[in-house]
Amino acid sequence: MHSVDATTESMIRSVLAYAENRLRLDPVPLDRGSRDPAELEAALNGLLGPGPHNPDQVLGVYTSVVAPAVISADSPRFLGFIPAAPTKASLLFDMLISCASIQGISWLEAAGAIHAENQVLRLIADRAGLPEQAGGCFVSGGSAGNLSALVVAREVAKRKAGSAASAARRWRVAVSEDAHSSITNTLRICEMDPLIVTSDDHRLTGAALRAAIAADGDSRSLAAVVATSGTTNAGIIDDLAGVAEVAREHGLWFHVDGAYGGAGLFAPSVRSKYDGIEHADSFIVDPHKWLFAPFDCAALLYRNPSVARSVHKQDASYLDVIHDTPGEWNPTDYAYHLTRRARGLPLWFSLAVYGVDAYTEAIEAAIELARQTAAEIRARDHLELIREPGLGVVLFRRRGWDSAAYTRWADQLLTDQVAFIPPSAWEGQTVARFAFLHPHTSMDLVRQILDRMA
Ligand SMILES: Cc1ncc(COP(=O)(O)O)c(C=O)c1O
Repeated sequence: MHSVDATTESMIRSVLAYAENRLRLDPVPLDRGSRDPAELEAALNGLLGPGPHNPDQVLGVYTSVVAPAVISADSPRFLGFIPAAPTKASLLFDMLISCASIQGISWLEAAGAIHAENQVLRLIADRAGLPEQAGGCFVSGGSAGNLSALVVAREVAKRKAGSAASAARRWRVAVSEDAHSSITNTLRICEMDPLIVTSDDHRLTGAALRAAIAADGDSRSLAAVVATSGTTNAGIIDDLAGVAEVAREHGLWFHVDGAYGGAGLFAPSVRSKYDGIEHADSFIVDPHKWLFAPFDCAALLYRNPSVARSVHKQDASYLDVIHDTPGEWNPTDYAYHLTRRARGLPLWFSLAVYGVDAYTEAIEAAIELARQTAAEIRARDHLELIREPGLGVVLFRRRGWDSAAYTRWADQLLTDQVAFIPPSAWEGQTVARFAFLHPHTSMDLVRQILDRMA
């Protein structure tokens, strides 16, 4: 298993050939996700047992059964949830990182990899206007980033309150109704409660937050406020400057969830909507979403990383050695993880190869496509635009359709391999939703999809 023998040589040829072909797909086809579990079971049966199999046979099962039963999130026809569109350079480099078994726990083990990752974090921090000392690490996703940041927020609030007051208190976090589900999960896991701030037009504002805190009357139990820079369902950027001001007034930790929309910091046409993000105590953005990195990659940044380190650093005698030299940066100290792949490196490589301007262009392409799509929807009488798109998400209705009609439309589009565009919901009603991210998604495709609603 660990030597280079005939089997290894044959796998290098066949697996790399498959990877090469996959990389050369342009465009990546959609494929189909859902399949009968009994069929899958029958097709995969017998492979995992005590004895070996010919690698080409196993690869054949992957190619003919497993791969086609996965919808390609990186297809320009994938327009549901939040898609992915990793660059060719980032995909290639991801393979290299895996082959090199780089593990990115500590400076002692991986100074080079960590330095390169930190340069990418610095680039993002600069776009956000975070101070020189800001820093953090790459984690597996937005959910892990939100959890790691809010754990720090809670600890900071506990320390401020003192142990006696803190023990008697159940901590709360102010959130909008449109905050991502991972925030709700984080609060439940960490035994905190939400203070739900209702706001006009699904956008958390400083005024709404101030009013909610005043009406609630128990601001001492608040540890933090979470704002979203690009809500998942509608791409709305909260009033970050206003929320930051109220957070300051009440001494709250200010966390910004930019898992989806944080990439808009690189797009001049929308950059002003992010004003106020520079006040964040913690901020996340998922490069595996709109910064065109492969799964799984989320950037987690703290304004003051040393406080995060005091919360997340793991102490164990066998780890003392990684903490021996003051000033060395150990990514493992800044989130809830220990072992970690150097998942920031594919982004580092890709940014260096293509240049940041290419990223700006690709992000602007999705924003422009959303604007054009909104105009197209407005021009069709049977369709209703729900709101002007702020980023790359467009919500709209087909007048007269019920939920079953949206499902039939979406199912047929997938069956015909035109697009993956599952319905969403808005204010309790089923609606249609484009999530644009891939720079090669075209207006022609959009028109084809809309034509099928006639
Ligand atoms: C705003 C926001 N926050 C958090 C997440 C969770 O990110 P992940 O799926 O990478 O855990 C998402 C995912 O879409 C998101 O859109």
